[in-house]
Amino acid sequence: MKILTIIGARPQFIKAAAVSRIVRSEEHINEVLVHTGQHYDRNMSDVFFGELDIPRPDYNLGIGSASHGVQTGKMLAAIEEVLLKEKPDWMLVYGDTNSTLAGAIAAAKLHIPIAHVEAGLRSFNRNMPEEVNRVLTDHAADLLFTPTTIASKNLLKEGIASPRIHLVGDVMYDAALFYVQQVDARSRILGDLNLKKEEYILSTIHRAENTDSHVRLTAIINALSELGKEIKVVLPLHPRTGKILKELDLFDQVSQSLCLIEPVGYYDMIALEKNAKMIVTDSGGIQKEAYFYQVPCATLRDETEWLELMESGWNCLIPPHCADEMVEKLRVRMSKLPPSGVMPLYGDGTASEKILKILSDSL
Ligand code: UD1
Ligand code: UDP
Repeated sequence: MKILTIIGARPQFIKAAAVSRIVRSEEHINEVLVHTGQHYDRNMSDVFFGELDIPRPDYNLGIGSASHGVQTGKMLAAIEEVLLKEKPDWMLVYGDTNSTLAGAIAAAKLHIPIAHVEAGLRSFNRNMPEEVNRVLTDHAADLLFTPTTIASKNLLKEGIASPRIHLVGDVMYDAALFYVQQVDARSRILGDLNLKKEEYILSTIHRAENTDSHVRLTAIINALSELGKEIKVVLPLHPRTGKILKELDLFDQVSQSLCLIEPVGYYDMIALEKNAKMIVTDSGGIQKEAYFYQVPCATLRDETEWLELMESGWNCLIPPHCADEMVEKLRVRMSKLPPSGVMPLYGDGTASEKILKILSDSL
């Protein structure tokens, strides 16, 4: 069986690492790895291949950054060429980025069966580029691998036939369980930054709805700067956010009031997450990782796709509209005792094995 996997953005390297590790243990599966080049900085791409032992991509399309239409269109044309040459049995796509959508459309046009990992997530906010990518990819896919029961129900409500939907759990949980074992040996970031357990907040901000709104981004930066007077706030800065902070003349304020660092590798990120007092983020993946490592989290968005995290009490939504209100809510969040107990919300750590078995059985 030949699987052609499309990756391109940071979270996809981590998801693909979990699945590719299992692929390599199966003799009957041949994986062709295609990197679109959506993320290309060393610390947004190469670092993960080295650290997580992901095979070198068979193709790097080198597409880079551009507007949504141009970026997706260039990917589509380049992926089509690879598909015509490789003729895979399956196209495997992850998540909700422009790379995901381009892979799905290219395969659909050539009648190559599509498998979508992390299917069924919905924010019900069509202004998000990710929501458009998810909905279109799910409706093009032949096999939809969902991480949660809520995701499966979303697909059924949209009329997707139930035999195509498979609740397998979350491949990010598989990755977390596997790589966390090596963190103590492979990360020195706490010592390097002089951080002590539960004496800092970890924050990440990159979502377009926050970075592309002057009001929201300013509110977030002001709220984090205010909290930074009480407790260290560590902010590994996504390049998108860095660029906009410079354009808005906010970069100096941020570097003076927060512990601003470059994006870090996955082991350093796990170390930062596990030891934080609280995580404040707009990332999809990091909301879940906070739960995996039992760290209280606040999500700076109006809505989330990961509703079960809210129900568990480990996460809460804080819409980033007004800095003062945010500071108040974040202080309350930080002073609250964490909930007792953690339920297995994201499967049992074998989502990758389940995915590969279903792919093999469905040929
Ligand atoms: C993309 C995904 C988002 C995901 C995120 C993960 C889409 C529409 N969005 O958002 O769902 O959560 O990746 O991190 O696919 N840049 C660099 N170097 C890089 C990569 C990006 O400088 O290596 C800068 C460029 O200025 C670029 C901007 O970041 O224009 C945005 O990058 P892009 O890949 O378009 O979107 P992300 O915000 O990273
Ligand atoms: N991550 C990382 N280094 C960083 C920031 C994030 O390794 O500096 C990892 C994080 O642990 C998670 C994934 O990248 O596994 C999340 O990616 P991101 O927040 O960029 O995207 P999203 O999940 O929101 O799509």
